[in-house]
Amino acid sequence: MTERSLSEIPGGASNDAADPVSARVRAVAESRIAEPGPLLEVLHDIQSEFGYLPEVTVPVVAQVLNLSRAEVHGVVSFYSDFRSSPPADIGVEICRGEACQAVGAEALVAHAAKSLGIGVGDQTGDGSVGLEQIFCFGNCALGPTASVAGRVHGRVTPERLDALVNEAQAGSKGT
Ligand code: FES
Repeated sequence: MTERSLSEIPGGASNDAADPVSARVRAVAESRIAEPGPLLEVLHDIQSEFGYLPEVTVPVVAQVLNLSRAEVHGVVSFYSDFRSSPPADIGVEICRGEACQAVGAEALVAHAAKSLGIGVGDQTGDGSVGLEQIFCFGNCALGPTASVAGRVHGRVTPERLDALVNEAQAGSKGT
């Protein structure tokens, strides 16, 4: 491996003391360094710990696993499951799988986008609600299917979706 000054690398080891996120990402990557082809597992571990992939993920993981940043970035951008920002407090996920599309999923997505004022993949300005698409919850016979705050619901109408989001918002304010 070509040695470079770690201070030249954003998220490099010399920055870890001042950056606990970088240090933690490094520790997670190092914990799997002996495994064959650990990149995907490392990325999943980091996302599972932070809820998303912090900005330092690509340079730090590339350095620890002796990969190029392009290789790590390529994997991160290929899988839509990987997030680059923290998740919203309340996640609204609407199924766009074929079975749900046949019973009104697109209208439900359009309604959610209008009602929340955001597009799919976005969050409200205060980060309280995020809208995402899913391609099958395994609840196909009861579509349209949507998940609000981690709970999956079947036969979701636009009105029901609004009610579920309102309930989740009321619950999150009450905690
Ligand atoms: S297609 Fe929507 S739950 Fe399977």
